[in-house]
Amino acid sequence: MIGDAGGDKAARVEAMFDRIARRYDLLNDVMTGGSHRRWKRAVLRATLAAGPATVLDVATGTGDLALAAARARPAARVVGLDFSAAMLDRARTRRFRERGMPPDRRLVFVRGDALRLPHPDGAFEAACSAFALRNVADLGLMFGELARVLAPGGRVALLDLVPIPDPPARTRLAQLHLQRVVPRLGGLLAGDPAAYTYLPSSVGSIPPLPAIERVLRDAGFEGVRHRLFGLGTVALIVGRRRA
Ligand SMILES: C[S@@+](CC[C@H](N)C(=O)[O-])C[C@H]1O[C@@H](n2cnc3c(N)ncnc32)[C@H](O)[C@@H]1O
Repeated sequence: MIGDAGGDKAARVEAMFDRIARRYDLLNDVMTGGSHRRWKRAVLRATLAAGPATVLDVATGTGDLALAAARARPAARVVGLDFSAAMLDRARTRRFRERGMPPDRRLVFVRGDALRLPHPDGAFEAACSAFALRNVADLGLMFGELARVLAPGGRVALLDLVPIPDPPARTRLAQLHLQRVVPRLGGLLAGDPAAYTYLPSSVGSIPPLPAIERVLRDAGFEGVRHRLFGLGTVALIVGRRRA
């Protein structure tokens, strides 16, 4: 168990991702109708906008963002971090299978806790994360760690399903899809219904978007703003580490 800073929740989340790692990529495609790929391209554009030489992808899972960052900037040093050993195994397998990957240690996958990053202060020029916010036990701790390991001016880009205040009818419909359809699909495909009933309940467990942005500012970020996707159910939040 790596995520001991996150207590019980971290242990449950780590074990769950270890169980579903084999099916995770398929589930992501099926549950978002492939849209997560487009959303992640937007995360990557925001992360790489200032041409960073060092990039951290927190809660990298099977490595989508880290692999894409390495492909887009082959000279950069890219680190994908996650606490699930099974998810990282898949990321490393993909790293060696995919063409265009740097053959050296410019791209590495490391096992570690988002709430206690194993990197020195100011080690990265940019950081990103997709679908992690709902999973961590303490958002303030995670954002504080991101601020610590980012150099002043370093960009952060965070993507997740988040509740927005006073959602319009189409957003409520999309949320209903998340709560009713997704768990059944997930249960069928992963053979693990508990894992995907976790998804809608975890969305309920994180604060609404304005509160998340406040926590990010309080942790030391400026220029914080967002863009919505998926009928308003998914947000890309960006900011810069204050100098
Ligand atoms: C929903 S997956 C997202 C994976 C990937 N970023 C993507 O978008 O496909 C969430 C990932 O967060 C990881 N995770 C959750 N809490 C974590 C923590 N405290 N430290 C490190 N990884 C964590 C899980 O192991 C899992 O791989």
